[in-house]
Amino acid sequence: MRDRGLILGGLALFLGLITFPLWYNLAAGTTAKGPDPKRPVQEKNCVEPVAVMRASHMDLLVDWRDQVVRRSEREFTAFDGRTYSMNLTQTCMKCHTSKEEFCDRCHNYAGVKPYCWDCHIDPKLLERTKG
Ligand code: HEC
Ligand code: HEC
Ligand code: HEC
Repeated sequence: MRDRGLILGGLALFLGLITFPLWYNLAAGTTAKGPDPKRPVQEKNCVEPVAVMRASHMDLLVDWRDQVVRRSEREFTAFDGRTYSMNLTQTCMKCHTSKEEFCDRCHNYAGVKPYCWDCHIDPKLLERTKG
């Protein structure tokens, strides 16, 4: 069993290497970084509870579009009783004022690229082009 030390040493090195990201983060006091979307500070509630929004905002948006375009229905009653006009740019982007710091941060992180902005215009962008 002359190789025992070598094997144990190799094993320790191997374990150290594969767990490197774990203890490196622990030592640096950080955890795996998420996309960190910037939530509105001036408002408390979204149009649905935050967990619902996080998981299903795409379905909600498509539903809003269908209501508006197919049924000429524009009013939406939120879970907290407030009412909103079903509108991507004028309602969502009124609270979530920065597409870059909110929508894009998550979408870049998740690797999705909603095509909605081919037609709908980010109000901020419109402001900028007006100069
Ligand atoms: C080819 C152009 C085009 C694309 C792409 C598009 N839309 Fe629209 N959308 C429209 C038009 C035109 C209307 C009708 C506007 C109205 O009647 O107020 C509309 C209406 C809507 C509305 C309701 C009113 C409003 O202006 O917000 C929502 C919500 C909506 N779209 C969401 C989306 C979402 C979400 C996507 C991406 C998944 C998307 N749209 C992609 C053209 C487009
Ligand atoms: C009245 C202001 C307001 C409107 C309108 C609004 N939001 Fe929100 N939204 C918020 C707030 C505030 C939060 C954070 C809520 C919380 O922390 O409980 C939030 C959270 C979210 C989240 C989850 C973010 C996260 O960090 O997990 C998504 C996604 C979202 N909103 C998308 C939308 C979309 C899409 C629309 C339009 C259909 C919309 N919001 C309309 C205020 C709004
Ligand atoms: C908390 C993170 C997060 C935030 C904030 C967020 N999204 Fe998303 N969004 C996602 C994820 C993740 C997906 C992909 C979900 C999937 O593919 O199942 C997605 C998908 C979508 C889709 C469907 C795209 C497709 O091609 O299927 C639309 C439309 C959309 N988001 C609109 C918005 C808008 C508008 C905002 C800003 C008001 C926003 N999202 C903010 C995480 C987020």
